[in-house]
Amino acid sequence: MTKIISFINLKGGVGKTTSTVAIAEFLADEHRKNVLVVDLDPQTNATVALISEEEWQRRDDAGQTLKQLFKDKLEKTNVFNVNDAIVRNVSNLHGGIPRLALLPSSLGLIELQDQLALIPGGNFYAISPVDVLAGALRPVLDGFDYVLIDCPPNLGIITLNGIGMSNGYVIPVVPDILSTYGVPQILNRIETFASTKGISVPSKGIIVSKYRVQSVLHNSRLSQMQQAAARNELPPVFPTVIPEAAKIAEAVDFEARVNTLRQKYGYGNNYERYSELTKDFVRLC
Ligand SMILES: Nc1ncnc2c1ncn2[C@@H]1O[C@H](COP(=O)(O)OP(=O)(O)OP(=O)(O)O)[C@@H](O)[C@H]1O
Ligand SMILES: [Mg+2]
Repeated sequence: MTKIISFINLKGGVGKTTSTVAIAEFLADEHRKNVLVVDLDPQTNATVALISEEEWQRRDDAGQTLKQLFKDKLEKTNVFNVNDAIVRNVSNLHGGIPRLALLPSSLGLIELQDQLALIPGGNFYAISPVDVLAGALRPVLDGFDYVLIDCPPNLGIITLNGIGMSNGYVIPVVPDILSTYGVPQILNRIETFASTKGISVPSKGIIVSKYRVQSVLHNSRLSQMQQAAARNELPPVFPTVIPEAAKIAEAVDFEARVNTLRQKYGYGNNYERYSELTKDFVRLC
């Protein structure tokens, strides 16, 4: 069965996109899984980490990004074709990872999101505005072992499209005060959304990244989270923690051509950490 996992935090800049892309690459390249990354964020960060900006622009102009899917919903058209929109063999790793695919986002999603929020309920539209993505992906899901959904830092209608079709979600955090502050709020809001919809979308855990080994604050926040998780007050904290490292920030540069994941994420610790984090992901998700 396909595992569908959303990466969500209401805080920006906590490593949602970097974690989504890295875990997807490791699952596809090291675990030989068929993986689809769905980029739900209008910032298109995951998209341009996995394909060139030129290719994104060409596809966006041709109606082959998520903008068209939601535009169809608003305008009652039927232009979006999921098979055409999914880009195969993506990533800058040796010219593309054969088992890794991307459903690209679009800057144009921002304004559509506001219009989607105004759609009235009832059966005037064939499906609810939060089920549009699930409906579009249904025909292709069997071809993937994992679908990883990179969410923007909000719980708007487009994000809820991702959450509503997920088997669970992970919460990337930086172990500082502000980034961890909103975690209980995410748990509550997703729980409320899921129960209203009559589904279960459990939190699979917290992924810590940009961790500073020398920081007293990071160490104390990390151990507080681990203790709260042990008391079942928080979801499990993934045992592997990703350090703050310049090489990891550079990894999202699509133009840097690399041949191996070691070369991409940095020799030594960073590569090993992502490799271990992906094993945690397989076990916990
Ligand atoms: N382990 C790391 N070490 C150093 N820099 C990192 C690390 N992980 C991510 N970054 C950098 O931090 C910034 C934020 O990361 P990322 O884009 O993954 O966060 P995000 O949660 O997806 O942000 P947004 O909410 O804007 O979507 C980026 O510039 C990224 O390159
Ligand atoms: Mg992001």
